[in-house]
Amino acid sequence: MLKVLLTRRWPEAVERRFLEAFDTTLNQADTPLSPEALARALREHDVVCPTVSDRITPEILATASPMRARLLANYGVGFNHIDVSACARSGLTVTNTPDVLTDATAEIAILLMLTAARRAGEGERELREGRWTGWRPTHHMGAGVVGKTLGLLGFGRIGRAVARRVWRGFDMRVVYHSRTRAAAEVEAETGAAWRSSAEAVLAEADFLSLHMPGGATTRGLIGAEQLRAMKPTAFLINTARGDVVDEAALAEALANGVIAGAGLDVYADEPAVSPALRSLDNVVLLPHLGSATRETREAMGMRVFENVAAFAAGRTPPDVVG
Ligand code: 8YV
Repeated sequence: MLKVLLTRRWPEAVERRFLEAFDTTLNQADTPLSPEALARALREHDVVCPTVSDRITPEILATASPMRARLLANYGVGFNHIDVSACARSGLTVTNTPDVLTDATAEIAILLMLTAARRAGEGERELREGRWTGWRPTHHMGAGVVGKTLGLLGFGRIGRAVARRVWRGFDMRVVYHSRTRAAAEVEAETGAAWRSSAEAVLAEADFLSLHMPGGATTRGLIGAEQLRAMKPTAFLINTARGDVVDEAALAEALANGVIAGAGLDVYADEPAVSPALRSLDNVVLLPHLGSATRETREAMGMRVFENVAAFAAGRTPPDVVG
């Protein structure tokens, strides 16, 4: 029977499915595995199912050699925590979980946009801390979103889901930049207009939402210069990967009014979040909740299961990446 390790606790229904089908080991403590434990896991299991809290580096793969594992079935769509080329060199196939978390992540991007624009986090803190002195016409004024422009950098599944919803739901204008322009039908059903450069989107956006993958090609893409190119009334929303944004430059821009605010769900060095960001009132900070609905977390697990089941049956798993 295939030996499988889930590196963190997963929703119960999915763990049960794995326990029934495979010789599955669960991480009862639900704490991230150390690099040594990850290497051992790769030596002792046919399939390891990591999450974003497990960094699979060339060093770990070298320590794990000779390796029993042949499949790394990631629980999540983003896989910048996995060195996919090094895995390929070690004969390790990598899969992910696309599609099933698109809606949940789009919801969190929109939630961050509204929360930042309407200063809801600040308001909640004021009330809970007993500082609310009552209604007044000038109290806690934020920005509206209806009729404003949403700029998207990256226009994959999640970017498109955000576009469709804010265009239909909030009558927002949507502009996007991605390396290749989407098909005319996609633009028509999302209401999004392509711009040939990221600069054009930065300049037009009242809300800029990031939807590109993380990793070497996108690291630091939003730095001081890009933030200066945005409107001083604009908001930055990041549900993609933390290292796409230069966090020190963002904290400075937020402190100095270069942009109006931000909403972040992801960070460069999770779970650490810089004290500079945490000290600012005009940034909404969520603890990587993009896919955190019961339905989605189960669907992600079931998607991993499909990949492992295909591998067990000698078929190519449906979601191979790299
Ligand atoms: C996941 C995510 O929960 O899937 C992704 O890319 O960012 C998250 O929503 C996380 O990656 C789990 O590994």
